[in-house]
Amino acid sequence: MLLHLSTWSEVETFLTRSKTVVVPIGSNEQHGPTGLLGTDWLCPEIIATEAQKSGDILVAPTFNIGMAQHHLGFPGTISLRPSTFIAAIGDWCRSLAGHGFEKIYFLNGHGGNVATIEAAFSELYAEASFSGRRRGFSMKLKNWWELKGVMALANRQFPVGHGSHATPSEIAVTQWAYPDAIKTANYAPQIAPTGPIREALDFRARYADGRMGSDPALATPEKGGELVKMAAEGLLLDVADFSAEVAPA
Ligand code: NI
Repeated sequence: MLLHLSTWSEVETFLTRSKTVVVPIGSNEQHGPTGLLGTDWLCPEIIATEAQKSGDILVAPTFNIGMAQHHLGFPGTISLRPSTFIAAIGDWCRSLAGHGFEKIYFLNGHGGNVATIEAAFSELYAEASFSGRRRGFSMKLKNWWELKGVMALANRQFPVGHGSHATPSEIAVTQWAYPDAIKTANYAPQIAPTGPIREALDFRARYADGRMGSDPALATPEKGGELVKMAAEGLLLDVADFSAEVAPA
């Protein structure tokens, strides 16, 4: 069930059978010469949308802007600063919890978001801790590539040239969902360099075309479809586990 295609009364009814909501979260940032700017928010959205076709989960609108300051040297990238991201995640959670959601599950598509999402969770729990009361809802963060079986499948599909940014696995997922938006280029070098991540000008100087350690030419829509299927199944299992967690009295 997709929240943005539902009515308030349908959400109210959903709450009588589940208190869990899934929020795809990512980043809008350059992904090399052939990767879509939306890659990091499209991947969790695609996976969650696929999962809700076979499982009774509610998927919220995608939180599609995240921690991308290091990609701002490339046109099209949009970033929040960490303090803004933390504040916005807090308001999303408070809004959903106010309706009765007790488990808020973030399916993440951008490694650079992890530290700040965890900090946002800590802020929300701290509000309760400092006032000596229960929070009343809990949050979970999961990167889509850490869902059951996904990493192993990606390692089999891409034994070399996977890298860490503009990877063939994430690009394959978008190719499967948006075949009309597949781009091609001649990569030089074929496998991009690796190194640290610092500010935007430093990033562009180190990684001329935006990739890190990857060979996106390895991506195919078929491989993307395999990844989406594995991830969607893993998501339903992981959301079920989270939903079944009971807070001690
Ligand atoms: Ni990415």
